[in-house]
Amino acid sequence: MAEVRPVGIAGLGRYVPDRILTNQDLEKIVDTSDEWIVQRTGIRERRIAADDQVTSSLAVLAAQQALEHAGITAEELQLIICATVTGDQPFPATACRIGCDLGAKNAGGFDVSAACVGFVHASQVATNLVASGAYDRVLVCGAEILSRILDYEDRNTCVLFGDGSGAAVFTPHDDCQQGEYLGGSMSMEGGAEGILSQPAGGSRHPASADSVAQRLHFMKMGGTRVFRFAVRVFAKLVRDVIDQYGIDQLGCIIPHQVNQRIIETAMEQIGLSMDYVFCNIHRYGNTSAASVPIALREAYEAGRLEKGKLVVMPAFGAGMSWGHTIFRW
Ligand code: ACO
Repeated sequence: MAEVRPVGIAGLGRYVPDRILTNQDLEKIVDTSDEWIVQRTGIRERRIAADDQVTSSLAVLAAQQALEHAGITAEELQLIICATVTGDQPFPATACRIGCDLGAKNAGGFDVSAACVGFVHASQVATNLVASGAYDRVLVCGAEILSRILDYEDRNTCVLFGDGSGAAVFTPHDDCQQGEYLGGSMSMEGGAEGILSQPAGGSRHPASADSVAQRLHFMKMGGTRVFRFAVRVFAKLVRDVIDQYGIDQLGCIIPHQVNQRIIETAMEQIGLSMDYVFCNIHRYGNTSAASVPIALREAYEAGRLEKGKLVVMPAFGAGMSWGHTIFRW
């Protein structure tokens, strides 16, 4: 029978591109205003990848920081999982390019496509593979260049998203002594392509001159339905953790950075202070699969991960999919 052993987070990394797109910049592109965006979303600016960067280039920079933090070399990695919906191309997996550019010549790799929940789902795959004893050193990246699938003629979507990457290295807890994985969840309500999707480019609508003319290769979103869904599942996930572990155990909530208003509304429904939540949405917007690991690294740097307390990461997105992970720092 396979071994089951405690798993920890050995290292964390994040990278955001240098170029800043402010709300004032967006005012010149679409009919919007800084006031509308800040009031509805909390976002003030977001990062945009340079023309010569691809998603794997962002992931590699975050991964290098995570490896350095973990104190291991790329050659020691056995597996790389990249969570993304904006991979370098539909195939091969972006994880393979990340492995090549890192010099991880002993690792296997694949991608996880779960939009904004991607990092949370991929982390559960990684932790369970390490827990089983099958792997000892697994790198998980969450990386996105959403600016390449945004329609900068659609004010409903283009103001909300940005580019970036985050990464985490998972090892046996005995080897790193921090961030012990306690559990998590993965859920979905399928059939929601009409609420949030990139309609063209797959088998449903193969890329064609027509799909481009109809702008179907860009993200489409029904904002109000996403808002209600996100508040509902965020509140439930956090309530479940409190019911299971008790409020005294709770250290920090690092949610998918979806929208400040969604996060505040959910926290109000739960009856918990926003002091528990780490937010950086005002600086980066929603970076989908990259948002949780970027916030996790920044929360670590800010000293928000309290020794012995729970770090809870709820995420929710297209699918509709949602899930969470719980670590004891
Ligand atoms: N600037 C100005 N006006 C805008 C903009 C904009 N950038 N975007 C939309 N509007 C307009 C709409 O056209 C609409 O105008 P109309 O009434 O004339 O048709 C109006 O604003 C809608 O206004 P509200 O109903 O007040 O907007 P709401 O309060 O619902 O806020 C928002 C819209 C921010 C999109 C909200 O629904 C939301 O936060 N939804 C969640 C979206 C989200 O965060 N998605 C992230 C991706 S999914 C994920 O990660 C889980």
